[in-house]
Amino acid sequence: MRILIVSSEVAPLAKTGGLADVAGSLPPILEQFGHEVAVCMPKYRAVTEGGFVTEPVGPITILIGSEPVDGAVEKTILPGSRVPVYLIAQDAYFNREGLYDVEGRGYPDNLARFSFFCRGVLRLLENSSWTPDIVHCNDWQTGLIPLLIKTEFNQHPKLANLKTLFTIHNLAYQGLFPAEQIAIAGIGWDQFHIDGVEFWGQISLLKGALVHADYLSTVSQAYSVEIQTEEFGCGLNGILRKRASRLCGIVNGVDYSKWNPELDTFIERNYSAETVSQGKAVNKKELIRQFGLNPECLSKPLIGVVARLAYQKGIDLLVEALPDLLKNDVALTILGTGEFNLEEALSRLARENSGVCGVRIAYDERMAHLIQAGADMFLMPSRYEPCGLTQLYSLKYGTVPIVRKTGGLADTIRDADENPDGNGFVFEESSVSALRDAVSRAVAAFRTTQRWNEIVRRGMAQDFSWTAAARAYEKLYRKILREAEM
Ligand code: ADP
Ligand code: GLC
Repeated sequence: MRILIVSSEVAPLAKTGGLADVAGSLPPILEQFGHEVAVCMPKYRAVTEGGFVTEPVGPITILIGSEPVDGAVEKTILPGSRVPVYLIAQDAYFNREGLYDVEGRGYPDNLARFSFFCRGVLRLLENSSWTPDIVHCNDWQTGLIPLLIKTEFNQHPKLANLKTLFTIHNLAYQGLFPAEQIAIAGIGWDQFHIDGVEFWGQISLLKGALVHADYLSTVSQAYSVEIQTEEFGCGLNGILRKRASRLCGIVNGVDYSKWNPELDTFIERNYSAETVSQGKAVNKKELIRQFGLNPECLSKPLIGVVARLAYQKGIDLLVEALPDLLKNDVALTILGTGEFNLEEALSRLARENSGVCGVRIAYDERMAHLIQAGADMFLMPSRYEPCGLTQLYSLKYGTVPIVRKTGGLADTIRDADENPDGNGFVFEESSVSALRDAVSRAVAAFRTTQRWNEIVRRGMAQDFSWTAAARAYEKLYRKILREAEM
């Protein structure tokens, strides 16, 4: 098959979260399976600053509102593979500090930026001799593509027949814009209704895709069911229920060439399941040193957190519970950036509990790896979690996950007190007491060395490599193409 994967971020070229990990890992595996795969993303400043060498493909001019905007398509290769990445370049839009926002404030021209991106992708396909069988779009930034194919381009000799899969990585980010901006996206007012892009008086690019994509997927089975309920549906549960027969869940995989304690070049000491005790001790010592914690923390259970500091991740619960958690004689190392009030609250707690609680407000790839390798437990009190990759990384690093039972966390982590083959600790209620209780249970298990080692080794032995997930996508692409022929 010929597969085009469109994503607003792709690791290692540009990343703010798990979407980049997915968009950087899935294409090379599909290529290994024998498919022709290409990737499209915007050319951000991060791509240039990362030293990725690009070559020109050709100029493009896209109408944004009534204004023709000049840009270009460039090409690079996804590192470690032969997959071509087509970069939609437009300096005024994409040569900026952030991908979507700066200091937490979304760029006011995001509709123009991502309309340019989506239309740029379609223009590239119009001009190219290569036509994909499947266009696999991801999240709201690509939402205009399925919509345009089914509306503006529905008579186009080349684009009208393109089949689309739209993967929802996070339903809460909806690409909402004021209705008055509709001309910027070039969407007709005939699309502005409840069964189109209209969402409570605004334009929703996400909804445009949910309505028009040939098929929808989420990044875990549990999340595909949750989003059909009022609690998790973010106001879109109605349309998702309507499309339920065209909606499925595929749990993400892990790129074990990047996230593997045996090979990881970011950590202090490599280790395997056989050498986890010694390896972890060395990494823990280094982690404690880098966070400036007391050396006595070496014998305490060390809890790691690496997350976007957002409501989704339940960081406010962590803030509230933290003084209580410390009564269990644990230490914490927390890495993240995000909402200003959460950054402030965590920094305050680190000051008040210096020596046992370290907080780093930064985006730091190296530190993300060191926390996985050096911590004993990895905490994710998420309110919702479409998949979650960090709990899968922590399993591989022998860092026992403590998670809330939601979405991908519910699909991948089983409570060790309740299941003989448990790989972590799970709590159901989104509350301080439930979080505290799960941490206490994990700490009790940690104090029973033999049992703890069994939980650690069981997690390390699990295989969440991309092979299974990529096979599931392959099967889904085939199903979409088969159904299109019927
Ligand atoms: P989400 O995509 O919702 O943020 P995931 O668990 O799917 O959650 O993926 C998060 C990814 O981002 C992981 O690769 C994680 O290591 C990384 N990450 C998150 N915050 C930071 C940070 N402050 N520094 C470095 N990496 C981070
Ligand atoms: C989103 C979700 C996260 C998921 C990631 C990759 O950012 O929040 O749960 O793992 O996408 O699919």
